[in-house]
Amino acid sequence: MTTPLSETELRAAITRERPGVLADLARLVAIPSIAFPDFDHAHVQRSAQLTADLLRGCGLAVEIVEAGGQPAVIGRKPAPPGAPTVLLYAHHDVQPIGDAARWESDPFTVTERDGRLYGRGVADDKAGVLAHVAALRALGEALPVGVVVFVEGEEEHGSGSLERLLSEHREAIAADVIVIADSGNWEVGVPALTTTLRGIVNLFVELRTLGSAVHSGVFGGAVPDALTALSRLLATLHDDAGDVAVDGLLRRPAAPLDYPAERLRAEAGLLDGVALIGTGRLVERLWTRPSLSVLGIDSPRPGEAPNALVPSATAKLSLRIAPGEDPKAAYEAVAAHLRTNAPWGADVTVTLEGLGSPCQIDATGRPFDIARSAFRTAWDGADPVDIGIGGSIPFIATFQEMFPEAAILVTGMSDPYSRVHGPNESLHLAEFDRICLAEALLLNNLS
Ligand code: BES
Ligand code: MN
Repeated sequence: MTTPLSETELRAAITRERPGVLADLARLVAIPSIAFPDFDHAHVQRSAQLTADLLRGCGLAVEIVEAGGQPAVIGRKPAPPGAPTVLLYAHHDVQPIGDAARWESDPFTVTERDGRLYGRGVADDKAGVLAHVAALRALGEALPVGVVVFVEGEEEHGSGSLERLLSEHREAIAADVIVIADSGNWEVGVPALTTTLRGIVNLFVELRTLGSAVHSGVFGGAVPDALTALSRLLATLHDDAGDVAVDGLLRRPAAPLDYPAERLRAEAGLLDGVALIGTGRLVERLWTRPSLSVLGIDSPRPGEAPNALVPSATAKLSLRIAPGEDPKAAYEAVAAHLRTNAPWGADVTVTLEGLGSPCQIDATGRPFDIARSAFRTAWDGADPVDIGIGGSIPFIATFQEMFPEAAILVTGMSDPYSRVHGPNESLHLAEFDRICLAEALLLNNLS
């Protein structure tokens, strides 16, 4: 048996490892590892390689595995006799950068401004990879538990091959405690365990009114164009208050947390004068009720549009569903709504892009108590809160099914100002130090 490190020793070790960890975070962010189909997946291979090198450097036995999708990295160190095994999850792929002009510094060159690091994936979720590395480096030979580090390569594109990967490597991955370092904290200075996440249903709806484009003056007035028809259909998705108007979707109560409207407005960057939508408590609207957003519309660009009626138009919709909702049933409900409400007899085609399950976690028991106490220590006495997240980590439900006995701790890398998925994504440096320390304390105290 190794002697556990004291809290003081662990703090010192995290401080000692900090420069190397931040340098490695910058190296990982420099790789544009985007798993979306239209991007060069050689970068995802490179980020898997670098992740593998980092884990090898922590003394783990490492393999890069694939199951018909992007490469994942599995690193293992067996448990000392009688000690539990902890699975540490993160993902090494990132979202596309969106509009490059909106970034204040190059998305793939980590840049520090006012106590934050900026770059695509610096929080979501390359910080997760480096938090695991930091904890393992800090503990070194004193690591008192077994670990399996599992770093996925296509989370941001829906984890298409994850189920196969998990079943093919079930034995290698099995653990007593699972730490999913891919969520957010409640506020800067207040740590959180995420106990519910919404599910996701992304779909396309295409409306067709004409065989091909025709003169908008000659035919307009009697012949409907597809963009107007689509706009009217999209307008039926919410009621006047802004609540989702699709029948049959689950709505549930949320945790008794107060999310002040002013705080949400500031975190979202909502423009002055623009109203929040929906009714009910904000944490319900964000975490435990459905939301439905239009993510894109395929139509002629305004500057290039001829004077012609548009014959067909497609929108991409994203539905977030409450914990406990069935994604397939939710998809059917939205598809039925779209087919029933299309105006003027327009031809409707609804196509599913992808589904992801919601989840809820019973965060009681010893590992959760140890995690909360590690948080309190790392955040200098601040009490952690249990939060929901409106975003989705669909495979948590898969982990729950595969390892029903395991305690699943969903920990935060981002804070509400991290702008994950947006331009100028950032990681709060002082929070990251606490995140790393908390994870080291957790591993130290779980044995
Ligand atoms: N890490 C995010 C989820 C998240 C974001 C949690 C912010 C807490 C705060 C995750 O990587 C993500 O974005 N997931 C996708 C899932 C989808 C691709 C199936 C999402 O929610 O859009
Ligand atoms: Mn993520």
